[in-house]
Amino acid sequence: MCIAAFLQVTVIAQKTFDTEAYRPQYHFSPKEHWMNDPNGMVYYKGEYHLFYQYYPGATVWGPMHWGHAISKDLVRWQHLPVALYPDSLGYIFSGSVVVDKNNTSGFKKGPESPLVAIYTYHDMAGEKAGKIDFQTQGIAYSLDKGRTWKKYAKNPVIKNPGIKDFRDPKVIWHEASKKWIMTLAVADHVRFYQSTNLKDWTLGGSFGKTEGNHGGVWECPDLFKLSTKDGKDSKWVLLVSVGTGAPNGGSGTQYFIGNFNGSVFTNDAPKETTQWLDYGKDNYAGVTWHNNPGKRKIFLGWMSNWQYAQTVPTEKWRSAMTIPREISLEKNTGHYQLISTPVKELEQLRKKIQPTLLELNTSYPIHLQELLLQFDLAKAGKEDVGIVLENNQNEKLTIGYHPGKKQFYIDRTGLSDNQFSKDYAGIHLAPRISENEILKMHVFIDQSSVEVFADDGSVVMTEIFFSKQGLNKLTLLPKKEVGAALIDGKMFDLKTIWR
Ligand code: FRU
Repeated sequence: MCIAAFLQVTVIAQKTFDTEAYRPQYHFSPKEHWMNDPNGMVYYKGEYHLFYQYYPGATVWGPMHWGHAISKDLVRWQHLPVALYPDSLGYIFSGSVVVDKNNTSGFKKGPESPLVAIYTYHDMAGEKAGKIDFQTQGIAYSLDKGRTWKKYAKNPVIKNPGIKDFRDPKVIWHEASKKWIMTLAVADHVRFYQSTNLKDWTLGGSFGKTEGNHGGVWECPDLFKLSTKDGKDSKWVLLVSVGTGAPNGGSGTQYFIGNFNGSVFTNDAPKETTQWLDYGKDNYAGVTWHNNPGKRKIFLGWMSNWQYAQTVPTEKWRSAMTIPREISLEKNTGHYQLISTPVKELEQLRKKIQPTLLELNTSYPIHLQELLLQFDLAKAGKEDVGIVLENNQNEKLTIGYHPGKKQFYIDRTGLSDNQFSKDYAGIHLAPRISENEILKMHVFIDQSSVEVFADDGSVVMTEIFFSKQGLNKLTLLPKKEVGAALIDGKMFDLKTIWR
């Protein structure tokens, strides 16, 4: 294609992305067709790679491929051709990518470090034939900065031991033992495998049969070490997604904080405790980037829920990712918890440096927004605090905090495009952890999603929404003027990434 024609195609595509119903304006979404979990997130030579579960044949789940996109700044993405296609061993399910700097795999041929993808093969024919060993682990490598991939000739590298759910390998380099560690989701627990070359794997310990939430099968684990902000202490963090059984129904991601010795993970918290990374209904299967510069741990999740992901009312594509978040560790009343913060790169989306200063009892026109709010709970008394998004078709979405119940909520019941699933509309809740009289909310509003980082990110709620007409009016709660309940209200208009 000549350059002029290429530019024209790009412009046309962007025009429709601007106006298409429900198309996210600053979240990653596939151009067309079905997407689920983020996969293989890796940084290499100035590029953040995002692979994802992709079915290029329809807008519902099907034979899984790895879609691919890259970004220099985690905000604007360039779509690349499909990276991995199904083959005779099966569909390509979720997994991870590592930069093999020391060529432990021996795959290196030219100047680039091998990027090695470790993923699950799902043998659909085997499953249909009633087998139980249809999930195995395979590897593939790229010697050209992720542009083309070659599958390893001796796949699978881990055979199935006779367990139906045996998937989603997340691999890290474990400096202390000088080994690669794979965390694998195995039905109701995770297993840790070790390797020196990414090809031969030995089983180490396992974790989780009697810990945390078991409302559904365990999927998409991630294991990483995290230091406290002052650098004085560090802990190992294990993320585990559960397909069903999350606090507000359906899919969700829990986490454990403890220690890992290269083979065994021990949980600091009592067995029955479950900590959730996000209480909203729409953040699933998220994991962190490998090899990015600095010490940041950057997380991205799939912004949907298996309860209704395949029936949401988008036409050409299905699903988007959350905004990228930095995950950090904080000690609160004696125990550790994770804090999620929108990555600072997102600030480039702000249209102006100066925000609009918000007041109670005023309505503001909105489209794509970022809000930084602080409420004085003592002044608000019994009144809910938060925000209401509306339109002149009487559609409404409320994001609030109920002081009596000490709960945050997102109320999707007031939106009209909700026929696609009985599990979608509802009032979804999150407990407040902080005891502070000043309550903070950092909110991101896109065309069809809202992300709330409450109390500096100790409680997070991510939800998608579908309103027949755009929600174009914002007011704050409390609606009644209760003496100076709002102590700080800043709002930024955000840019679309399509222009
Ligand atoms: C999670 C998941 C993974 C699996 C993939 C298949 O959403 O079920 O466990 O690898 O999706 O698309």
